[in-house]
Amino acid sequence: MTLPELLIRSLTATDAPVYFAFRLAGLAESPLAFGRSAEEYRHEPLETVAAGLAEHLGERVTLGAFLSGELVGAMTAVRELTLKRRHKGNIYAVYVSPAARGQRVGETLLSALLAWAGAVPGLEQLHLAVSVTQEPARRLYLRHGFQVYGLEPKALRVNGRDIDDELMVRFLDG
Ligand SMILES: CC(C)(COP(=O)(O)OP(=O)(O)OC[C@H]1O[C@@H](n2cnc3c(N)ncnc32)[C@H](O)[C@@H]1OP(=O)(O)O)[C@@H](O)C(=O)NCCC(=O)NCCS
Repeated sequence: MTLPELLIRSLTATDAPVYFAFRLAGLAESPLAFGRSAEEYRHEPLETVAAGLAEHLGERVTLGAFLSGELVGAMTAVRELTLKRRHKGNIYAVYVSPAARGQRVGETLLSALLAWAGAVPGLEQLHLAVSVTQEPARRLYLRHGFQVYGLEPKALRVNGRDIDDELMVRFLDG
């Protein structure tokens, strides 16, 4: 069986409706993985989603992964704004649809995101927080050179369950 070709590209404001549906489904399917809840996100205005996807060269990017034209994965990186923090960025909203998992979609997206970050002058670190429950995500990050530097106890409370977040950083070469 040949797998359909995986296309990775930056999303733009015109992808907002598709991205909104994708993100909402992800928040509903993996509530332990994210700080935002589906209940809150479903009220997000489409203009806000579009503004978040609009191109800001070197400042933020959402990469989408498409299989047979369908959005099956996405990740966002946002550079810090202030002078003293501009050497750092954060990764958010990492998600691959359940049916597309285990086919290197996450690997390919994260490699592309690291390549994007590596090409931004002055950007030296990428940070993220990952719920300790999200084992495949933790392994993905550790495989890509992220190091654990802390633990935020009870970072999330999901339906009365407290979840710790592991804090990770990836230093970018050069
Ligand atoms: C974390 C996540 C993005 C990974 O996406 P993915 O596309 O399945 O990732 P990959 O396919 O690149 O890797 C997943 C696993 O499949 C394995 N794999 C990849 N291609 C494979 C192949 N062709 N054959 C067998 N195994 C394969 C990888 O080695 C990896 O194994 P591991 O988890 O045991 O280390 C996905 O599981 C997800 O969305 N989880 C829920 C949300 C979440 O936790 N987000 C993180 C928030 S911080």
